[in-house]
Amino acid sequence: MRLDRMLSECGVATRSEVARACRKGLVLVNGIPATRPDLQVDETTAAVTYCGAPVRYRKFVYLLLNKPSGYISATEDGSDPVVTDLLPAEYRRMGVFPCGRLDKYTVGLMLLTNDGDLSHRLLAPKNHVAKSYRFSCEKPLSEAEKSALEAGVDIGDYRTKPCKIEMTAPCEGEITITEGKYHQIKRMFEAADNKITFLERISFGGIVLPPDLERGHWRELTEDELDLLKKSLKDKGNQT
Ligand code: URA
Repeated sequence: MRLDRMLSECGVATRSEVARACRKGLVLVNGIPATRPDLQVDETTAAVTYCGAPVRYRKFVYLLLNKPSGYISATEDGSDPVVTDLLPAEYRRMGVFPCGRLDKYTVGLMLLTNDGDLSHRLLAPKNHVAKSYRFSCEKPLSEAEKSALEAGVDIGDYRTKPCKIEMTAPCEGEITITEGKYHQIKRMFEAADNKITFLERISFGGIVLPPDLERGHWRELTEDELDLLKKSLKDKGNQT
């Protein structure tokens, strides 16, 4: 692989920045200054340093963000802040995007990656990947209303699939759905003549929102978490 491609793919620098750094002798490959950005390197074995910092090549990254309220689930927006604003430039250069959407005022667990294939499979309706949310609603939810929501309700253009709800207080609980229609949970509660007043995603495909990860903070998924995500697909007969 070309040196400039390797460094741009893993978000270290743009190709023109690599060319400039090479001219200044700031890119070392196995300890030797690279004079040309098109130098061929084995990205899996070459010891590359850029401006003194060692470079670890990886094509894909997988991040877990605790989304704060007010952020749009996108990589750009004309007026509001977007979730990728919360990440270092390195990840934005790698082309990281949110895996699915949370509404502007929904908070909690959001996965971001540049692995389009995995993201696509996690969101494919046929894979029924489970997502759990903590919610508060305006009015107490009766047993009958809860059972009706769990069985599936008409949200206008769609009848929702069965889901699971556990109430923790008259107006609070946890809901687990295996699909992701636009404003789904809000529309489900509206169908029950109620209103969601707070929504926080607490798990996605077996990944749980870490209690010590503050709102607006992020970290990379651990190997175990990534395996868990992939397993949530494998269990459904997908290849990973
Ligand atoms: N359902 C909603 O209504 N909003 C979200 O952000 C996620 C699920």
